[in-house]
Amino acid sequence: MVINTACSITEDISWVGVNDHSTDLFEALWPLPKGISYNSYIINDDKVALIDSVKPDFLAEHRAKIRSIIGKDKAIDYLVINHMEPDHTGAIDQLRSAYPDIKIVGNHKTLEMLSSYYDIDNQVFAVKDGGRLSLGRHELMFQLTPMVHWPETMMTYDAAGKVLFTGDVFGSYGAVDEGLFDDEVQERKVADEVLRYFSNIIGRYGEMVLRAIDKIKTLETGIVAPTHGIIWRKKPQRIIELYDCWSRHQTEPGVVIVFASMYGNTRIAVEALTRELVQNGLPVTVHNLSHSHASFVLRDIWRYGAAVLACPTYNTELFPLMDDLVRLLENKRISNRLLGIVGSYGWSGGAAESLRQFAEKNKWELVEPVIEFRGSARKGDMAQTIKLAGKIAEKLRETDKTSE
Ligand code: FEO
Repeated sequence: MVINTACSITEDISWVGVNDHSTDLFEALWPLPKGISYNSYIINDDKVALIDSVKPDFLAEHRAKIRSIIGKDKAIDYLVINHMEPDHTGAIDQLRSAYPDIKIVGNHKTLEMLSSYYDIDNQVFAVKDGGRLSLGRHELMFQLTPMVHWPETMMTYDAAGKVLFTGDVFGSYGAVDEGLFDDEVQERKVADEVLRYFSNIIGRYGEMVLRAIDKIKTLETGIVAPTHGIIWRKKPQRIIELYDCWSRHQTEPGVVIVFASMYGNTRIAVEALTRELVQNGLPVTVHNLSHSHASFVLRDIWRYGAAVLACPTYNTELFPLMDDLVRLLENKRISNRLLGIVGSYGWSGGAAESLRQFAEKNKWELVEPVIEFRGSARKGDMAQTIKLAGKIAEKLRETDKTSE
């Protein structure tokens, strides 16, 4: 299904978002091999409300979709901003020019940011937690859900359509031109991009996501409408459950091995360890840091209960790509994982010790033995991979049992 027009969500509510297949890196950081959508919704009632907007590059398409719903002469009365980040607000000046009477609806944090980003401080309408706004048949109710993932983030609930507009929460990477709704795509085709989006963008704020989920649990939600990715109307609880699990750091019993190897010596030890883990019946995903973007590594570390980090020492310290990764893991506040370590060195150790310190500082459970060798791995080092694989498998089984 190719979506090149507005798309009906309920009788009065339509998707007027856009698909972006041009941007290489979301937030100038995260690759978009399957594109991304900026979802925006219009409620065509006595008063017209636009819920969130799009990147300015796509304004013409966005406006054409809006006009296809409300016509050329009808105005937009309200722009509700659930999230201020410029992928949803960057076209705000142009929208105000096109619709001079439009009022911008947001909470007090939104209004602060409107001023700091766009010098806008007039025709704004401040809402409080639980505040309501009538459009006619529809009444919007605002739920402040701060820090998912910015301070001003909020959700907007429309009781008439049972639609919850959630901002970035419950969003995903991937354009929606092959299906806008969860019943139009196979979950297995989008699952990786949902988790990658969560781990890259939202995961750091898991505690706040859980608070938000607790807050919306009494709302009768038939449709979850985020600002990115597919809209969940067949199984709206499914995406809420996934975000809930990931925010609690509930993991799958498997291992991600992330390695870097300058001359192949670390790689050979990693291959032996991988084989042993597979022999222990574990799902294993391997990333070579020199080839895999951290975005995908982060996704798989979020997915699995155990990680093995393996790299050489570089100038007495952690190999730079691994150093970048562990800083990113710290930034994303990933916890509750098992960690295996493989370190090699030519003339000075350092990598393995740095990874030990990472585990201690971030409360990851170190699984012994730590494998560290000078030059190339010998018979004794290879034998250690059998022990480490067995220990990881044993601990994952224990964790799996306690979570049953
Ligand atoms: Fe989609 Fe946080 O902006």
